[in-house]
Amino acid sequence: MRESGSLFGWLITAGFVLTLLNYPVKLVYRKLVAGLPRESKFRGTYMKVQRFIVSNHRFFAFFTGLTLLAHLVIQLIYRWPSRTGLAAGLLMVINLAVGAYGHYFKKKKRSAWLYIHRALAVLLIAAIVAHIVTGGR
Ligand code: HEM
Ligand code: HEM
Repeated sequence: MRESGSLFGWLITAGFVLTLLNYPVKLVYRKLVAGLPRESKFRGTYMKVQRFIVSNHRFFAFFTGLTLLAHLVIQLIYRWPSRTGLAAGLLMVINLAVGAYGHYFKKKKRSAWLYIHRALAVLLIAAIVAHIVTGGR
């Protein structure tokens, strides 16, 4: 079961990276791509990729939540209740809820929720790095 534990751990990490892409993709658009001429082929392709990343953000996050659940159950049964893992998992569940609140209740309108959502994402990066470098302790 050690392998499937790690497998789900890496799947969470991959889903998390896809979820996070939301931010850099928009940043690159604002800084580099927005200035390109409308007819630019690169701009058109970039817009398509950006639309895909942004409009599927919540689905990447839901997928990540499912793999987190699998990892949690497997690790609790076959390994140990990792403290760094539980910290990362808790932060992720809270941020899924904050994201869902912003999307469905606030209709994506910017307010405090978005700042909390971003700050939690930064904490989450730190927690996941700590969990992975300690090998799941
Ligand atoms: C955001 C949440 C999480 C992520 C991204 C994550 C990711 C990972 C990854 C990538 C590994 C493999 C590390 C390696 O191969 O060296 C791992 C291992 C482990 N994780 Fe997590 N994890 C998360 C949450 C949790 C939670 C909630 C638990 C709670 C029980 C947990 C318990 C463990 C344990 C015990 C291992 C070590 C398995 C072993 O060495 O046999 N993780 N995790
Ligand atoms: C662990 C899960 C999640 C992480 C790490 C995460 C991360 C982020 C980050 C870093 C941003 C900032 C992007 C920007 O500044 O434009 C963002 C924006 C946003 N997130 Fe999440 N998110 C997660 C889950 C969710 C979920 C589950 C939903 C909805 C159901 C959601 C909805 C949104 C919305 C509406 C925005 C505002 C900007 C936009 O429309 O793209 N997020 N998220």
